Amino acid sequence: AQRGVGAGGGAAASDVFGAAGEVSVTALTADPDRTADVHVELVARQETIDVPGGRSVEGYTVNGSSPGPELRARQGDLVEVRFVNESVSAGATLHWHGIDVPNAADGVAGITQDAVPVGGHAVYRFEATDAGTYWYHSHQVSHDQVVRGLLGAIVVDPASSDAAANLDVTALLHVYGGQHTLNGRVSDERVEAPPGATVRVRVINTDQGTAAVWSESPFRVVATDGRDVNGPTDIDGKRLLIPAGGRADVSVRSPQHGSVGLHVGGARRILVGDPAASVRPGPQPSETLDLLAYGTPAPLGLDPTAPDRTYDYVIARRFGIIDGRPGNFWTINGRMFPDVPMFHVREGEIVVMRIANESGEVHPMHLHGHHFVVLSRDGEAASGSPWWVDSLDVHPGESYEIAFVADNPGIWSDHCHTLPHAVDGLIAHVMYE
Ligand code: C2O
Ligand code: CU
Repeated sequence: AQRGVGAGGGAAASDVFGAAGEVSVTALTADPDRTADVHVELVARQETIDVPGGRSVEGYTVNGSSPGPELRARQGDLVEVRFVNESVSAGATLHWHGIDVPNAADGVAGITQDAVPVGGHAVYRFEATDAGTYWYHSHQVSHDQVVRGLLGAIVVDPASSDAAANLDVTALLHVYGGQHTLNGRVSDERVEAPPGATVRVRVINTDQGTAAVWSESPFRVVATDGRDVNGPTDIDGKRLLIPAGGRADVSVRSPQHGSVGLHVGGARRILVGDPAASVRPGPQPSETLDLLAYGTPAPLGLDPTAPDRTYDYVIARRFGIIDGRPGNFWTINGRMFPDVPMFHVREGEIVVMRIANESGEVHPMHLHGHHFVVLSRDGEAASGSPWWVDSLDVHPGESYEIAFVADNPGIWSDHCHTLPHAVDGLIAHVMYE
């Protein structure tokens, strides 16, 4: 696979917006003396999006399209993105969803930088330390800018493998004005593959609700949110659910004859095999894959039995007023953002959070700058492959215990990725002391 995309910008590292707090600024930015391996310029515009196979909608584009270009890096690369806001009137930023970037490159307007005004630019620099499937999107008025297209995919190939030799396809899901699209088009996609070959499908859910992935043929989940599953097992007759903001890499085997279809969200499919063969869709399975026990067990890499900090994160709902706007809003431990106290941590600590949802609706909870491991759900321990994610659907009445290592200093957002919920109170922050 080719690295980077388009013509490089190459602005100076000193353009990176500064960080705050008492942690040292060098820890929050990528090495300023290193030359970037991937240089990309991304230009945001407010304009009409042409949706192939569908009808055009008003929204936001990156380099003239939505989704914007897919960025491609190799593990260990230093990525430098020059972001230009040409015409997004409310200002815009780029956030690297799922990539544990230095805090100054996190792209959260009002927290790690100011929104880039029309005519302005920002430079993001980070090392792509972890291979996997990620995406980028604006983090300014996100419930409008992400919903209306200011986003794209970013894939980091493993340092070791010859990624170009493998069949690898991205399936970015997004709804534009009620139209379900796959990679920005209202159509299925075909991947020509010889019988027996496996294709890695990188499903990215950029929408506001859960997406289902399923097939009439067995498939495998090989990674969730950019983290490999240990010893993946065949999934047969079950649906895989991907939270808003989440990703799943799925492996599909090309059949001896014809094609198999992988249904990805809405009404779209990835068809793998003989490009001339038609695939007849079967009924959607009623059973859902339980990610608490999938793949084969592997060591956790941290000891969650002796955490340095344990926090409760209780999601509920009550009447309140936000910015003079009365409504039935979401609360965290009884408070609405910006009134939610920060969760304090120190570098090196193991942090356990007990998330409970007493609000009556599902919330895809997303933590910036870290991946967390799911330890248990409703008191039942995870028994299969460690489930490392950055986006987790917490259903009404459920409680989860998660753990992460505080290894990335800064101030990090921890919010619901159904973005209208975030505006309506469901945002907290993790703050390094
Ligand atoms: Cu994908 Cu705070 O966001
Ligand atoms: Cu929510």
